[in-house]
Amino acid sequence: MTDNTSLLFSLPKHVGIIMDGNGRWAESRGKIRLSGHKAGVNAVKEAITYAAEKGIERLTLFAFSSENWKRPKEEVSGLMELFTWALSNEVQSVHKNNIRLRVIGNTEKLSRSLQDKIKDAYELTAANTGLILNIAVNYGGRWDIVQAVKKIIAQKGTSLELDDITEELITENLNECADVDLLIRTGGEERISNFLLWQLAYSEIYVTDVLWPDFTKSDFEKAINSFMKRERRFGLTGEQIRKSDN
Ligand code: FPP
Repeated sequence: MTDNTSLLFSLPKHVGIIMDGNGRWAESRGKIRLSGHKAGVNAVKEAITYAAEKGIERLTLFAFSSENWKRPKEEVSGLMELFTWALSNEVQSVHKNNIRLRVIGNTEKLSRSLQDKIKDAYELTAANTGLILNIAVNYGGRWDIVQAVKKIIAQKGTSLELDDITEELITENLNECADVDLLIRTGGEERISNFLLWQLAYSEIYVTDVLWPDFTKSDFEKAINSFMKRERRFGLTGEQIRKSDN
């Protein structure tokens, strides 16, 4: 759980991004939606580079939700090909930059070749010490909580006592354990769309109208600057927070 003190005006440790607006970006140019997702790959690279340079500890990108399977078949298969292609092409550069790459989500439903690439990328970068980069694919916040509860029951079996169930135990069993400090959503919609529900409990939220393919380092910087001006209270009063910060 996050330490409540000394967080005033400091850099977010964990940033989550809902990368929205690819479809609108493409449609406004008279192109098919998939070309918006392709353009979105450049913005992904720029955001990762910015986070690594800035010294952010964790970056979690929402690439494909458990609900996105309901999109048109050709968009879903195009997105899967794009993930496979991007992983193959970028994994060496991610590794060279000392980044740890993990895919969070229910990977069982992904193609064998994508699962293999995910495993290879994880193993190659596991010992790196820089930015932790989570790509959320076939991810849903509710699914994450349910799988954590299932894991706990599977581990403890019949020895499970009611008092064993704590917030810490659930947190430890999530796909990503760290609370999100700053949630950025591009594309202007003000919702969290079943992203990291548990981990977003005390996040600061920053929504921008910029569509994901247009999101640059300078837009990321604006979000960070907005975060650093905020007073995070975690249920306390402003006065209590300011006292604990001195
Ligand atoms: C939401 O925009 C975006 C997605 C569902 C896909 C995100 C994928 C990428 C940015 C491509 C590459 C990612 C990686 C990690 C390599 P939308 O289609 O809902 O946009 P709309 O709201 O304008 O329709």
